[in-house]
Amino acid sequence: MCGITSYCGNKQAIPILIEGLKRLEYRGYDSAGFAVIDNKKNIIVKSQGKVLKLEEKKAGKKIDSTFGIAHTRWATHGEPSEINAHPQTDCTKKISVVHNGIIENYLELKEELIKKDHKFVSETDTEVIAHLIEENFNEDLEDAVLKSIERLIGTFGIAVIHSDIDHKIVVAKRGSPIIIGVGENEFFAASDSNAISPFTKKMIYLRDDEMAVLNSDGYYIKNFKNEILEKEIETFDEVSFKTDKKGYEHFMLKEIFEQPETIENAFRGRIIENEGVSKLGGLIPVLDRLKSINKLIIVSCGTSYYAGLLGRYILENLTELNVECELASEFRYRRLKLDENIGVLAISQSGETADTLAAIKEAKRKGALLLGIVNVVGSSIAQITDAGVYNFAGPEIGVASTKIYTSQLVILTLMALLIGRYQGLSYYEGSQVICALKNIPDKVREILNDADKIKKIALKYSKYRDFLYIGRLYNYPTAMEGALKLKEISYIHAEGYPAGEMKHGPISLIDENFPTVAIAPDDSAIDKMISNIQQIKARKGKIISITNKDAKKVIDISNDSIIVPKTIPILQPILNIVPLQLFAYYIAKQRGCNIDKPRNLAKSVTVE
Ligand code: G6P
Repeated sequence: MCGITSYCGNKQAIPILIEGLKRLEYRGYDSAGFAVIDNKKNIIVKSQGKVLKLEEKKAGKKIDSTFGIAHTRWATHGEPSEINAHPQTDCTKKISVVHNGIIENYLELKEELIKKDHKFVSETDTEVIAHLIEENFNEDLEDAVLKSIERLIGTFGIAVIHSDIDHKIVVAKRGSPIIIGVGENEFFAASDSNAISPFTKKMIYLRDDEMAVLNSDGYYIKNFKNEILEKEIETFDEVSFKTDKKGYEHFMLKEIFEQPETIENAFRGRIIENEGVSKLGGLIPVLDRLKSINKLIIVSCGTSYYAGLLGRYILENLTELNVECELASEFRYRRLKLDENIGVLAISQSGETADTLAAIKEAKRKGALLLGIVNVVGSSIAQITDAGVYNFAGPEIGVASTKIYTSQLVILTLMALLIGRYQGLSYYEGSQVICALKNIPDKVREILNDADKIKKIALKYSKYRDFLYIGRLYNYPTAMEGALKLKEISYIHAEGYPAGEMKHGPISLIDENFPTVAIAPDDSAIDKMISNIQQIKARKGKIISITNKDAKKVIDISNDSIIVPKTIPILQPILNIVPLQLFAYYIAKQRGCNIDKPRNLAKSVTVE
């Protein structure tokens, strides 16, 4: 979704801003723009579509500027268009604003400003901020921004410049991330560290209700009460920002193939083999509270929700906890009784998903213990939770999540081991899980070595318009996630269902044009899965099964089978999802889809 980057220093600003925008592209967007000041003139260039188009528009224009702000927009208020793209400006056209988030009271403010003769040109909520700053401006940009944000209800990360004020960028944050980059006589502000990581590895994460003022020889940070704050500069290593495709055609394919390493990264240094337990440094500060909770509610969205759904089965298997799993967008509106004996676990790759953020804020208000599994270090969810565990899986660029899903499953298993060993789980049971976990990376490698076979099967089915995915128990979430992968990137209709529910509706859809992907490993549910498969076959439905080599009956009745290695049932879904990721990828590729940036989707969904 929307992204911000900005630069203040002594180099030409536009190439740095454009490079930043390109590094924000993976988040999903529909228009882009920048504003720079050249000799007290505010120059705004915007375009609908890709950053490349923006670059083309700029080409040939002679602009000399060493500070400016830039934005990729994902439409919320008003259609994707050049007028609605950011930066937005005021009546004098001297103020430029880029904004992530949503201003809930923008209509009310707009009416008020129109009465004061402000002329609006766009449909955006952001334009209101520019006019509000104009209204409050009295030679002091910082003061005008402070006065203006007092009036805003909603969420915002903003960057503001004024053409009369040399080398000054004011940024502010409430509910939408802003990171400051500290270079040698140059300073950056962005909504995502990726945008500025080629230029500096030194960063400061702003918290809610904080703002920063950048100029070419320094910066300072304040809170909205106008008090100066001393904040720590964090230095990140090169690895945290590696975002090249390493020779793969798409980021998604690269990320699927990275899974043996990202799975290992998720458990490396986090298991104590001779005690059959895990060691999660991030949870140590809350260990006593963690031991005393009797219920855990997992909240998340999208792929992270399916990881949570599976987490429920894993935690129920290894611990005595009552576990619920809820979509964050529903959880926050429920009439919930939470207290300090309940834990709420947010799972989020980006750590910025607005619904998940809102859900845990609600849980915080009610006194629950807040935990997180997050990939992006320093993200909003990581900041708000009491404690948590990072994935350390490196940036995930493909909009459809792959390597983070399997990494989340590993961490959920480690969390369950940690809690379970304080409860009934024996040393022997714990050790069995650890032993199986350590073998997972090699088993994933085995599956990836079969990519060509999976590709052949995918191509055979690439022309169908509908798919059903079914699974039972641990593989019910796998069916949901497998179907999500296919619909996200190939735009094929795919429904994930618990196999037992098939007879209550979806079976009416089945005919020779509606294939089913059956996740049917050799486990306690296999006989039931076989009878579901037979019901589909009886209606001429084609079956692609994901199964193990000893499940002869499943292989015999399937039209096509993808064989995966076997592991213990709670970890089998980590192996089963890998061929489904590849299956979706090869179908989408065959259909010529934009795999890394599917239409209408965003990597980091920062609106509710
Ligand atoms: C978007 C992304 C999905 C992701 C979901 C939740 O929809 O396209 O890939 O699973 O958000 O994101 P999170 O960052 O909270 O895991």
